Formats: sequence, structure tokens, C-alpha cells
Amino acid sequence: MGILHYFSKDPDKRSRFIFNFIAPIYGYLGTSVERNFVSSMNAVTKNIRVEGKDVMDLGTGTGAWAANFKRAGAKQVLGIDFASKMLDKAKSTYSNIEFVQGDAENLKQFADNSFDIVTASFVLHGVKEHKRSNILREMSRVSRKHIVIHDFIGKTPLSIRFLEFMERSDYKYFKLNFCNELNMHFSHAQKISTKFGTGIYIAEKNTN
Ligand SMILES: C[S@@+](CC[C@H](N)C(=O)[O-])C[C@H]1O[C@@H](n2cnc3c(N)ncnc32)[C@H](O)[C@@H]1O
Repeated sequence: MGILHYFSKDPDKRSRFIFNFIAPIYGYLGTSVERNFVSSMNAVTKNIRVEGKDVMDLGTGTGAWAANFKRAGAKQVLGIDFASKMLDKAKSTYSNIEFVQGDAENLKQFADNSFDIVTASFVLHGVKEHKRSNILREMSRVSRKHIVIHDFIGKTPLSIRFLEFMERSDYKYFKLNFCNELNMHFSHAQKISTKFGTGIYIAEKNTN
């Protein structure tokens, strides 16, 4: 994929280019990213049971968030991402997790209610609202019960704001409006701040 994809009008092409491009750096950070996620994972395990559960991690990247679920005792963890180079890093780092290339907006290869927990870490702020809505709809469909979103919540450090500017992400609007978006798809949505302007949104699938 050439550098021109960075300027593409198609946001998926641009995103795939950016993440394939930065995959070696992400991979280099490797398990230190995973360690940084520990406080957020603690917030998850305090609120929902992970042990013995089937978990799907969307936009898994190099697999650091998925790995925290495996460490917390999940029975099976499946990571999905559309950037092949991020997945290559994930596969070479975590042999106990399955990784598959796919698009979080369209998970038609997976049946309804096929995972106990469906999660996404630092994915949803990166896409526009209509794409977020498609992803949330798919999360709801394949989940049996819980949805866990790990993402920005509060005031983010300057370095992050610069990266988000380069990524041309939707993070400002995301922080303002995401709870409302979540409430349109799920019940009992709650938001827990952890550190550095990040945190966890936990919601339950509507059963009626
Ligand atoms: C900022 S990275 C986060 C990676 C990982 N979840 C983490 O927290 O370390 C965002 C990831 O989402 C992936 N992604 C974005 N939109 C996607 C989509 N529609 N389907 C699948 N993967 C997607 C990107 O390729 C990238 O690997």
C-alpha cells in the first residue's frame, strides 16, 4: 500500500494504511502496551466476570488488549482486525489467542449471540459516528451479554491529541457523545475512568 493511501477519501483505506505503516512501532512497544492496559482491565474484572467466557476483540491490532482478557481467565479469545501487518505482530506475540482478518462493521461470518463479551480498545474514537453505529450494531448482534469499550474518556495528554490529529480521528466528538450513542444500542451503560484520559464503557445487550 503506497503513501497516497494516507490522503485517500476512503477512511477505511486510510486507517488500514496508517495501522499497517505503524505496525512495527506498535509491535516494538509490544507487552509494555499490554501492561499499560492493566488498570483498565482491573476495572473490567471488578464489574463483570471474564473467567471462562468467550471473548471477541474487535480492532485487536497487535493483540495487547485481547491478551489481558486471556490473562484474566477467558476461555477463548478471538481478535479481529482489518490491517494484516498489525495481525502479523499479534500472531507472533500471542500464540494462545486466535487472530482473524475481518471488518468490524461486517461480521457476517459470525452467528448471532456467539460470544459472551465483545470488546474494542481504542477503535471507536477513530471512526465517524455512522461507522461507530455499524460497529456497535454488529457488537450487539454477536454478543450474548456484555460489550466493553476501552477508549478515551477524559482530558487527553498533548502527545495523544497530536497523534489523533495525524490520524484524523473523531476523538473530540467521540468523547462528547459516545455515552448517548451507547445508550441507543444497549442498556445499563456505565463509564469508568482509569488513567491518562482513558477508561472503560461497559454495557449490556438489550434482550427485549
Ligand atoms: C489504535 S489501534 C488499537 C489496537 C488495539 N485494540 C489496542 O488497543 O492496542 C486501532 C485498530 O483498529 C483497527 N480497525 C479500525 N477500524 C477497523 C474495522 N472497521 N475493522 C477491523 N479493524 C479495524 C485498526 O486496523 C487498528 O489495528
